[in-house]
Amino acid sequence: MKKKLNVGLIGYGFMGRTHSNAYCKVNHFFDLPYEPVLQVVCGLEENEAKAFAEQWGYQSYTTDWHKVIEDDNVDIVDICVPNNVHAEIAIAAAKAGKAICCEKPLALNGAQAETMVKAVEDAGVPNLVSFNYRRVPAVTLAKQLIDKGRLGRIFHYRANFLQDWTISTKVPQGGMATWRLDVKAAGSGVTGDLLAHCIDTAMWHNGAITSVCAMTETFVKERMHVETGKVEPVGIDDACTFLCRFDNGSLGNFESTRYARGHKALYTFEINGEKASIAWDLHDLHRLSYFDYSDDSIVRGWRSVHVTDSDMPYMDKWWVPGLQIGYEHTFVHQVADFLENLAKDKPTSPNFRDALATQYVCDAVLTSAKNKKWETVKKS
Ligand SMILES: NC(=O)c1ccc[n+]([C@@H]2O[C@H](COP(=O)([O-])OP(=O)(O)OC[C@H]3O[C@@H](n4cnc5c(N)ncnc54)[C@H](O)[C@@H]3O)[C@@H](O)[C@H]2O)c1
Repeated sequence: MKKKLNVGLIGYGFMGRTHSNAYCKVNHFFDLPYEPVLQVVCGLEENEAKAFAEQWGYQSYTTDWHKVIEDDNVDIVDICVPNNVHAEIAIAAAKAGKAICCEKPLALNGAQAETMVKAVEDAGVPNLVSFNYRRVPAVTLAKQLIDKGRLGRIFHYRANFLQDWTISTKVPQGGMATWRLDVKAAGSGVTGDLLAHCIDTAMWHNGAITSVCAMTETFVKERMHVETGKVEPVGIDDACTFLCRFDNGSLGNFESTRYARGHKALYTFEINGEKASIAWDLHDLHRLSYFDYSDDSIVRGWRSVHVTDSDMPYMDKWWVPGLQIGYEHTFVHQVADFLENLAKDKPTSPNFRDALATQYVCDAVLTSAKNKKWETVKKS
Protein backbone atom coordinates (compact mmCIF):
# COMPACT_ATOMS: atom_id res chain seq x y z
CA MET A 1 0.00 0.00 0.00
CA LYS A 2 1.31 3.43 -0.92
CA LYS A 3 1.10 6.12 1.72
CA LYS A 4 -1.50 8.71 0.76
CA LEU A 5 -0.55 12.38 0.70
CA ASN A 6 -3.46 14.81 0.63
CA VAL A 7 -3.10 17.79 -1.67
CA GLY A 8 -4.65 21.20 -1.04
CA LEU A 9 -4.53 23.12 -4.31
CA ILE A 10 -4.90 26.91 -4.16
CA GLY A 11 -5.74 28.36 -7.57
CA TYR A 12 -7.69 26.41 -10.20
CA GLY A 13 -6.53 28.38 -13.28
CA PHE A 14 -3.91 27.45 -15.86
CA MET A 15 -1.38 26.10 -13.36
CA GLY A 16 -4.06 24.57 -11.15
CA ARG A 17 -4.93 22.38 -14.14
CA THR A 18 -1.34 21.40 -14.97
CA HIS A 19 -0.63 20.48 -11.33
CA SER A 20 -3.90 18.55 -10.91
CA ASN A 21 -3.19 16.63 -14.10
CA ALA A 22 0.25 15.75 -12.73
CA TYR A 23 -1.14 14.46 -9.41
CA CYS A 24 -3.69 12.36 -11.30
CA LYS A 25 -1.13 10.78 -13.63
CA VAL A 26 2.03 10.42 -11.59
CA ASN A 27 1.33 7.02 -9.99
CA HIS A 28 0.37 5.51 -13.34
CA PHE A 29 3.85 6.11 -14.72
CA PHE A 30 6.23 6.40 -11.76
CA ASP A 31 6.73 3.79 -9.05
CA LEU A 32 6.59 5.97 -5.95
CA PRO A 33 6.10 5.33 -2.24
CA TYR A 34 3.39 8.00 -2.10
CA GLU A 35 0.03 8.47 -3.75
CA PRO A 36 -1.27 12.04 -3.99
CA VAL A 37 -4.95 12.43 -3.15
CA LEU A 38 -6.89 15.45 -4.43
CA GLN A 39 -8.26 16.62 -1.09
CA VAL A 40 -9.40 20.23 -1.49
CA VAL A 41 -9.26 22.95 -4.16
CA CYS A 42 -9.50 26.66 -3.44
CA GLY A 43 -10.14 29.64 -5.71
CA LEU A 44 -11.94 32.95 -5.70
CA GLU A 45 -15.21 31.97 -7.38
CA GLU A 46 -17.35 29.37 -5.58
CA ASN A 47 -19.09 28.07 -8.72
CA GLU A 48 -15.79 27.66 -10.51
CA ALA A 49 -14.14 25.98 -7.52
CA LYS A 50 -17.07 23.55 -7.29
CA ALA A 51 -16.97 22.80 -11.03
CA PHE A 52 -13.20 22.30 -10.87
CA ALA A 53 -13.53 19.94 -7.89
CA GLU A 54 -16.10 17.88 -9.80
CA GLN A 55 -14.10 17.81 -13.03
CA TRP A 56 -10.79 16.82 -11.45
CA GLY A 57 -12.05 14.72 -8.54
CA TYR A 58 -11.21 16.94 -5.56
CA GLN A 59 -13.11 15.81 -2.47
CA SER A 60 -14.06 19.35 -1.43
CA TYR A 61 -13.67 23.01 -2.40
CA THR A 62 -13.45 26.38 -0.69
CA THR A 63 -13.00 30.05 -1.53
CA ASP A 64 -10.86 30.73 1.56
CA TRP A 65 -7.24 29.58 1.35
CA HIS A 66 -6.88 29.75 5.16
CA LYS A 67 -9.20 26.73 5.35
CA VAL A 68 -6.74 24.73 3.25
CA ILE A 69 -3.90 25.58 5.63
CA GLU A 70 -6.04 24.85 8.73
CA ASP A 71 -7.13 21.47 7.35
CA ASP A 72 -5.19 18.83 9.33
CA ASN A 73 -5.77 16.34 6.52
CA VAL A 74 -3.81 18.40 4.01
CA ASP A 75 -0.17 17.30 3.64
CA ILE A 76 0.92 19.32 0.58
CA VAL A 77 -0.15 22.91 -0.08
CA ASP A 78 0.17 23.67 -3.79
CA ILE A 79 0.18 27.39 -4.57
CA CYS A 80 -1.08 28.29 -8.07
CA VAL A 81 -2.33 31.84 -7.49
CA PRO A 82 -1.06 35.19 -8.81
CA ASN A 83 2.40 36.22 -7.58
CA ASN A 84 1.24 38.74 -4.96
CA VAL A 85 -0.56 36.01 -2.99
CA HIS A 86 2.32 33.46 -2.89
CA ALA A 87 4.09 34.84 0.19
CA GLU A 88 1.26 34.95 2.72
CA ILE A 89 0.01 31.49 1.75
CA ALA A 90 3.49 29.93 1.74
CA ILE A 91 4.44 31.43 5.10
CA ALA A 92 1.17 30.27 6.68
CA ALA A 93 1.60 26.81 5.15
CA ALA A 94 5.16 26.56 6.48
CA LYS A 95 4.01 27.53 9.98
CA ALA A 96 1.35 24.81 9.75
CA GLY A 97 4.06 22.26 8.89
CA LYS A 98 2.84 21.51 5.35
CA ALA A 99 5.02 20.50 2.43
CA ILE A 100 4.79 23.27 -0.18
CA CYS A 101 4.86 23.43 -3.94
CA CYS A 102 4.78 27.07 -5.08
CA GLU A 103 4.46 28.41 -8.59
CA LYS A 104 7.10 30.75 -9.99
CA PRO A 105 8.24 33.45 -9.58
CA LEU A 106 8.56 32.70 -5.89
CA ALA A 107 7.63 36.25 -4.84
CA LEU A 108 7.15 39.84 -5.97
CA ASN A 109 10.81 40.63 -5.21
CA GLY A 110 13.89 39.39 -3.38
CA ALA A 111 12.98 40.93 -0.02
CA GLN A 112 9.64 39.13 0.01
CA ALA A 113 11.26 35.89 -1.18
CA GLU A 114 13.71 36.10 1.76
CA THR A 115 10.79 35.98 4.23
CA MET A 116 9.47 32.87 2.46
CA VAL A 117 12.85 31.13 2.53
CA LYS A 118 13.14 31.91 6.25
CA ALA A 119 9.65 30.51 6.90
CA VAL A 120 10.26 27.16 5.18
CA GLU A 121 13.78 26.78 6.58
CA ASP A 122 12.67 27.66 10.15
CA ALA A 123 9.79 25.18 9.90
CA GLY A 124 11.93 22.56 8.16
CA VAL A 125 9.18 21.78 5.65
CA PRO A 126 9.84 20.32 2.18
CA ASN A 127 9.56 23.04 -0.47
CA LEU A 128 9.66 23.24 -4.23
CA VAL A 129 9.23 26.01 -6.80
CA SER A 130 7.62 25.12 -10.09
CA PHE A 131 10.29 26.06 -12.63
CA ASN A 132 9.02 23.17 -14.70
CA TYR A 133 11.15 23.66 -17.83
CA ARG A 134 14.08 22.04 -16.01
CA ARG A 135 12.12 18.84 -16.31
CA VAL A 136 11.69 18.78 -20.08
CA PRO A 137 13.77 15.66 -20.86
CA ALA A 138 15.86 17.53 -23.48
CA VAL A 139 16.60 20.34 -21.00
CA THR A 140 17.59 17.80 -18.34
CA LEU A 141 19.76 16.03 -20.93
CA ALA A 142 21.51 19.35 -21.63
CA LYS A 143 22.33 19.59 -17.91
CA GLN A 144 23.72 16.03 -17.92
CA LEU A 145 25.92 16.73 -20.95
CA ILE A 146 27.28 19.91 -19.33
CA ASP A 147 27.95 18.10 -16.03
CA LYS A 148 29.78 15.34 -17.88
CA GLY A 149 32.09 17.99 -19.36
CA ARG A 150 30.93 17.36 -22.94
CA LEU A 151 30.92 21.10 -23.68
CA GLY A 152 34.21 21.82 -21.92
CA ARG A 153 34.66 25.40 -20.81
CA ILE A 154 31.48 27.38 -21.46
CA PHE A 155 31.80 30.76 -23.16
CA HIS A 156 28.25 31.83 -23.98
CA TYR A 157 24.71 31.26 -22.69
CA ARG A 158 21.89 32.99 -24.57
CA ALA A 159 18.19 32.61 -24.00
CA ASN A 160 14.98 34.16 -25.32
CA PHE A 161 11.36 33.94 -24.24
CA LEU A 162 9.13 35.64 -26.80
CA GLN A 163 5.36 36.20 -26.85
CA ASP A 164 3.00 38.58 -28.65
CA TRP A 165 -0.26 38.67 -26.66
CA THR A 166 -0.21 42.21 -25.24
CA ILE A 167 0.44 44.22 -28.40
CA SER A 168 -3.14 45.53 -28.58
CA THR A 169 -3.71 48.66 -26.47
CA LYS A 170 -7.19 47.27 -25.76
CA VAL A 171 -5.84 44.49 -23.52
CA PRO A 172 -6.68 45.69 -19.98
CA GLN A 173 -4.64 45.30 -16.82
CA GLY A 174 -5.70 43.72 -13.51
CA GLY A 175 -8.59 41.37 -12.78
CA MET A 176 -8.46 37.63 -13.03
CA ALA A 177 -7.66 37.33 -16.73
CA THR A 178 -4.98 40.02 -16.99
CA TRP A 179 -3.37 40.19 -13.54
CA ARG A 180 0.02 39.72 -15.26
CA LEU A 181 -0.21 43.30 -16.58
CA ASP A 182 -0.90 44.77 -13.12
CA VAL A 183 2.36 45.40 -11.31
CA LYS A 184 0.70 45.09 -7.90
CA ALA A 185 -0.33 41.49 -8.67
CA ALA A 186 2.61 40.42 -10.83
CA GLY A 187 5.55 42.29 -9.27
CA SER A 188 7.08 42.83 -12.72
CA GLY A 189 6.33 42.06 -16.35
CA VAL A 190 8.31 39.75 -18.58
CA THR A 191 11.26 39.77 -16.17
CA GLY A 192 9.48 37.84 -13.40
CA ASP A 193 7.03 36.03 -15.64
CA LEU A 194 9.22 34.76 -18.48
CA LEU A 195 12.88 35.60 -17.87
CA ALA A 196 12.65 34.00 -14.42
CA HIS A 197 12.26 30.65 -16.24
CA CYS A 198 15.30 31.36 -18.45
CA ILE A 199 17.36 32.51 -15.45
CA ASP A 200 16.46 29.44 -13.41
CA THR A 201 17.42 27.08 -16.23
CA ALA A 202 20.57 29.05 -17.04
CA MET A 203 21.87 29.02 -13.46
CA TRP A 204 21.06 25.31 -13.17
CA HIS A 205 23.03 24.66 -16.37
CA ASN A 206 25.83 27.15 -16.00
CA GLY A 207 26.11 28.35 -12.37
CA ALA A 208 25.49 31.67 -10.67
CA ILE A 209 24.91 34.96 -12.49
CA THR A 210 27.04 37.60 -10.77
CA SER A 211 26.31 40.89 -12.57
CA VAL A 212 23.78 42.21 -15.08
CA CYS A 213 23.21 45.15 -17.41
CA ALA A 214 19.62 45.51 -18.57
CA MET A 215 17.17 47.62 -20.53
CA THR A 216 13.41 47.41 -20.24
CA GLU A 217 10.55 49.10 -22.04
CA THR A 218 6.85 49.56 -21.41
CA PHE A 219 5.48 50.05 -24.92
CA VAL A 220 1.88 50.65 -23.84
CA LYS A 221 2.06 53.10 -20.97
CA GLU A 222 -1.61 53.23 -19.92
CA ARG A 223 -4.30 50.56 -19.89
CA MET A 224 -7.78 50.27 -18.51
CA HIS A 225 -7.73 48.65 -15.08
CA VAL A 226 -10.38 45.93 -14.77
CA GLU A 227 -10.97 46.58 -11.07
CA THR A 228 -11.28 50.39 -11.16
CA GLY A 229 -12.65 50.76 -14.70
CA LYS A 230 -10.19 53.67 -15.15
CA VAL A 231 -7.25 54.09 -17.52
CA GLU A 232 -4.18 53.80 -15.29
CA PRO A 233 -0.39 53.86 -15.80
CA VAL A 234 1.17 50.47 -16.60
CA GLY A 235 3.86 49.54 -14.07
CA ILE A 236 5.25 46.37 -15.65
CA ASP A 237 8.09 45.87 -18.14
CA ASP A 238 6.69 44.79 -21.53
CA ALA A 239 10.13 43.84 -22.81
CA CYS A 240 13.50 43.23 -21.21
CA THR A 241 16.94 42.52 -22.61
CA PHE A 242 19.96 41.95 -20.44
CA LEU A 243 23.60 41.03 -20.62
CA CYS A 244 25.23 39.20 -17.73
CA ARG A 245 28.37 37.59 -16.40
CA PHE A 246 28.33 34.13 -14.89
CA ASP A 247 30.55 33.12 -12.00
CA ASN A 248 32.39 30.65 -14.29
CA GLY A 249 33.55 33.49 -16.57
CA SER A 250 31.03 32.95 -19.34
CA LEU A 251 28.83 35.67 -20.83
CA GLY A 252 25.04 35.67 -20.97
CA ASN A 253 22.56 37.36 -23.26
CA PHE A 254 18.82 37.21 -22.45
CA GLU A 255 15.75 38.68 -24.13
CA SER A 256 12.06 38.55 -23.36
CA THR A 257 9.07 40.41 -24.72
CA ARG A 258 5.32 40.14 -25.20
CA TYR A 259 5.65 42.21 -28.41
CA ALA A 260 7.33 39.73 -30.78
CA ARG A 261 4.55 39.43 -33.34
CA GLY A 262 4.16 35.81 -34.41
CA HIS A 263 5.62 34.21 -31.29
CA LYS A 264 3.34 32.62 -28.68
CA ALA A 265 5.80 31.05 -26.27
CA LEU A 266 9.16 30.80 -27.99
CA TYR A 267 11.55 29.83 -25.23
CA THR A 268 14.96 29.02 -26.71
CA PHE A 269 18.48 28.72 -25.39
CA GLU A 270 21.91 28.09 -26.88
CA ILE A 271 25.08 27.26 -24.99
CA ASN A 272 28.50 27.44 -26.61
CA GLY A 273 31.45 25.60 -25.09
CA GLU A 274 35.00 24.96 -26.25
CA LYS A 275 34.22 21.36 -27.26
CA ALA A 276 30.53 21.46 -28.16
CA SER A 277 27.37 23.54 -28.35
CA ILE A 278 23.76 22.85 -27.40
CA ALA A 279 20.54 24.51 -28.51
CA TRP A 280 16.92 23.95 -27.51
CA ASP A 281 13.54 25.31 -28.57
CA LEU A 282 10.29 24.94 -26.60
CA HIS A 283 8.31 24.66 -29.85
CA ASP A 284 10.26 21.48 -30.62
CA LEU A 285 10.76 20.50 -27.00
CA HIS A 286 11.62 16.83 -27.45
CA ARG A 287 14.68 17.64 -29.57
CA LEU A 288 18.12 18.80 -28.47
CA SER A 289 20.43 20.32 -31.07
CA TYR A 290 24.03 19.30 -30.45
CA PHE A 291 27.28 20.16 -32.22
CA ASP A 292 30.38 18.20 -31.24
CA TYR A 293 33.70 19.53 -32.48
CA SER A 294 35.37 16.14 -31.89
CA ASP A 295 33.30 14.56 -34.67
CA ASP A 296 35.11 13.56 -37.86
CA SER A 297 35.31 16.81 -39.84
CA ILE A 298 33.68 15.44 -42.98
CA VAL A 299 30.46 14.63 -41.09
CA ARG A 300 30.72 17.27 -38.41
CA GLY A 301 27.63 19.41 -38.02
CA TRP A 302 24.62 20.19 -35.87
CA ARG A 303 22.66 17.05 -35.06
CA SER A 304 19.10 16.98 -33.84
CA VAL A 305 18.78 14.46 -31.01
CA HIS A 306 15.27 13.06 -30.62
CA VAL A 307 15.08 12.77 -26.83
CA THR A 308 12.82 9.71 -26.60
CA ASP A 309 15.13 6.76 -25.86
CA SER A 310 14.75 4.99 -22.54
CA ASP A 311 18.28 5.93 -21.42
CA MET A 312 17.37 9.61 -21.72
CA PRO A 313 16.00 11.57 -18.72
CA TYR A 314 12.52 10.44 -17.60
CA MET A 315 11.83 8.65 -20.91
CA ASP A 316 11.93 5.10 -19.50
CA LYS A 317 8.71 6.02 -17.66
CA TRP A 318 6.71 6.80 -20.80
CA TRP A 319 6.12 5.08 -24.14
CA VAL A 320 8.64 3.38 -26.43
CA PRO A 321 11.70 4.94 -28.13
CA GLY A 322 10.70 7.31 -30.92
CA LEU A 323 7.44 8.41 -29.28
CA GLN A 324 7.62 11.81 -27.68
CA ILE A 325 5.98 13.50 -24.73
CA GLY A 326 5.04 17.17 -24.20
CA TYR A 327 4.53 20.16 -21.95
CA GLU A 328 2.23 18.64 -19.35
CA HIS A 329 4.71 15.87 -18.60
CA THR A 330 7.15 18.39 -17.08
CA PHE A 331 4.70 18.81 -14.20
CA VAL A 332 4.35 15.04 -13.79
CA HIS A 333 8.16 14.81 -13.55
CA GLN A 334 8.17 17.62 -11.00
CA VAL A 335 5.63 15.85 -8.76
CA ALA A 336 7.44 12.51 -9.20
CA ASP A 337 10.77 13.99 -8.13
CA PHE A 338 9.14 15.83 -5.21
CA LEU A 339 7.39 12.70 -3.90
CA GLU A 340 10.44 10.49 -4.36
CA ASN A 341 12.62 12.96 -2.47
CA LEU A 342 9.99 13.37 0.25
CA ALA A 343 10.21 9.65 0.92
CA LYS A 344 14.01 9.88 1.15
CA ASP A 345 13.86 13.07 3.24
CA LYS A 346 15.87 14.81 0.52
CA PRO A 347 15.31 18.34 -0.85
CA THR A 348 14.04 18.82 -4.39
CA SER A 349 15.47 21.52 -6.65
CA PRO A 350 14.62 24.19 -7.35
CA ASN A 351 13.60 24.85 -3.76
CA PHE A 352 12.72 28.23 -2.24
CA ARG A 353 16.40 29.09 -1.70
CA ASP A 354 17.23 28.29 -5.35
CA ALA A 355 14.29 30.46 -6.42
CA LEU A 356 15.55 33.28 -4.19
CA ALA A 357 18.74 33.35 -6.30
CA THR A 358 16.58 33.77 -9.42
CA GLN A 359 14.60 36.50 -7.68
CA TYR A 360 17.85 38.35 -6.89
CA VAL A 361 18.83 38.25 -10.56
CA CYS A 362 15.39 39.61 -11.53
CA ASP A 363 15.76 42.40 -8.95
CA ALA A 364 19.23 43.28 -10.26
CA VAL A 365 17.91 43.29 -13.85
CA LEU A 366 15.09 45.72 -12.99
CA THR A 367 17.42 47.95 -10.93
CA SER A 368 19.98 48.00 -13.73
CA ALA A 369 17.34 48.99 -16.28
CA LYS A 370 16.17 51.78 -13.99
CA ASN A 371 19.65 53.07 -13.14
CA LYS A 372 21.08 52.47 -16.63
CA LYS A 373 24.20 50.79 -15.26
CA TRP A 374 25.67 47.37 -14.39
CA GLU A 375 24.41 45.87 -11.12
CA THR A 376 25.97 43.21 -8.93
CA VAL A 377 23.60 40.35 -8.08
CA LYS A 378 23.03 39.67 -4.39
CA LYS A 379 24.17 36.20 -3.26
CA SER A 380 21.47 33.89 -1.90
N1 LIG B 1 5.45 27.22 -14.38
C1 LIG B 1 4.94 27.87 -15.41
O1 LIG B 1 5.34 27.71 -16.54
C2 LIG B 1 3.82 28.85 -15.18
C3 LIG B 1 2.92 29.13 -16.22
C4 LIG B 1 1.85 29.99 -15.95
C5 LIG B 1 1.72 30.56 -14.70
N2 LIG B 1 2.64 30.29 -13.72
C6 LIG B 1 2.50 30.89 -12.39
O2 LIG B 1 1.42 30.25 -11.72
C7 LIG B 1 0.72 31.19 -10.90
C8 LIG B 1 -0.74 31.20 -11.32
O3 LIG B 1 -0.82 31.54 -12.70
P1 LIG B 1 -2.04 31.03 -13.61
O4 LIG B 1 -1.67 31.32 -15.00
O5 LIG B 1 -2.42 29.65 -13.23
O6 LIG B 1 -3.16 32.04 -13.12
P2 LIG B 1 -4.72 32.00 -13.41
O7 LIG B 1 -5.14 33.41 -13.52
O8 LIG B 1 -5.04 31.06 -14.52
O9 LIG B 1 -5.32 31.35 -12.07
C9 LIG B 1 -5.19 32.02 -10.85
C10 LIG B 1 -6.05 31.31 -9.82
O10 LIG B 1 -5.79 31.91 -8.56
C11 LIG B 1 -7.03 32.04 -7.84
N3 LIG B 1 -6.84 33.11 -6.86
C12 LIG B 1 -6.45 34.37 -7.08
N4 LIG B 1 -6.36 35.06 -5.91
C13 LIG B 1 -6.70 34.17 -4.93
C14 LIG B 1 -6.83 34.25 -3.52
N5 LIG B 1 -6.56 35.38 -2.86
N6 LIG B 1 -7.22 33.15 -2.85
C15 LIG B 1 -7.48 31.99 -3.49
N7 LIG B 1 -7.38 31.86 -4.84
C16 LIG B 1 -7.00 32.93 -5.54
C17 LIG B 1 -8.05 32.35 -8.92
O11 LIG B 1 -9.35 32.03 -8.49
C18 LIG B 1 -7.56 31.42 -10.05
O12 LIG B 1 -8.11 30.14 -9.89
C19 LIG B 1 1.44 32.52 -11.08
O13 LIG B 1 2.36 32.68 -10.04
C20 LIG B 1 2.16 32.36 -12.39
O14 LIG B 1 3.34 33.15 -12.50
C21 LIG B 1 3.66 29.45 -13.94
